[in-house]
Amino acid sequence: MFDTKILDNSDRSIELAAELLKSGEVVGIPTETVYGLGADALNEDAVKKIFEAKGRPADNPLIVHISEFSQIEELVTEIPKLAINCAEKFWPGPLTMIMPKSDRVPMITSGGLDTVGIRMPSNETARKIISACGFPIAAPSANLSGSPSPTSAQHVYNDMQNRVPAIVDAGHCGIGVESTVICFEGRDSIRLLRPGFISVDDLKEITENVIIDKGVTEIVAADAKVASPGMKYKHYAPKAEITILEGTLDAYREYVKENSDNDTTLLVFDKNDADGLYLPYVVYGSTDEEQARNLFGSLRELDRLNAIKVFARCPSKNGVGLAVYNRLIRAAAFRVIRL
Ligand code: TXA
Ligand code: MG
Repeated sequence: MFDTKILDNSDRSIELAAELLKSGEVVGIPTETVYGLGADALNEDAVKKIFEAKGRPADNPLIVHISEFSQIEELVTEIPKLAINCAEKFWPGPLTMIMPKSDRVPMITSGGLDTVGIRMPSNETARKIISACGFPIAAPSANLSGSPSPTSAQHVYNDMQNRVPAIVDAGHCGIGVESTVICFEGRDSIRLLRPGFISVDDLKEITENVIIDKGVTEIVAADAKVASPGMKYKHYAPKAEITILEGTLDAYREYVKENSDNDTTLLVFDKNDADGLYLPYVVYGSTDEEQARNLFGSLRELDRLNAIKVFARCPSKNGVGLAVYNRLIRAAAFRVIRL
């Protein structure tokens, strides 16, 4: 049991966080996407503590975070040409690339796979912490396994209180959904495993051959062989039963009028969407970017309100909207009604 401290992001706090990480402890760290639960990626005992703190299945691999491109060399056996092009265009930033791992990366970090996911975050505090440590940092999202990812230090505290010694607070995450995860197929194809702020159109500037894995928008059986183990786990689940209603605002309001009862809460883009419906509501934003930034906080808010049944407006599926949709359908256990 730890008496969990929330640190600010001053240089002194960054030093403190680095000292904890160097001594093999786990620290909550900010990134531009969501908060992460960091530990020395090359230290088995430290990484084991991440899995324990989160209650994460051992076969779900962790992303390894670096602050300099040169750190990649000891982590992989090969850097595909497309990976270099992507790094030049999107790093530092919210893109994770899967590559064949070297023996330096312990099996516990890669969830038993012979590949490793690597990302260079753009968040300044994250980069300072990694630099101060001098080693790469493994970090999954800092939520309890199955809960919505944390987009503020308070969210991390709510989940990780007493489980980790410290959390570094750098304010609300600017992006709000986790990084785009890709792997490479052959010499000229990119496979999208998890959508994020770096969109399909962004990736198409690197190569025309961008394949969207089926698991991005469709349900994956628990025993299926998947390209990315995270796909098959239940994710982001609030306690309420969420149903996504896909269609116009008029159709949404009509459906809600006919199908709501005392247990219904609405998850809407804008407060006007709920006008005159006389039901409790949570707003998550009018643009794809706002929805990305607010989605996870809104799911936590629905829990706080003890929402039982939720009708959610459907994200656009364009740009970062595809990432919002990918997270929301998991929160909704794939219940989507096309109006
Ligand atoms: O934005 C992010 O990526 C955040 C911040 C903290 O960096 N991290 C994050 O980590 O979302 P996590 O562990 O919650 O999600 C990592 C996802 C999982 O779905 C995992 O299965 C997949 O990436 N992944 C990691 N390494 C992989 C690998 N070698 N092969 C296939 N999928 C991998
Ligand atoms: Mg996660």
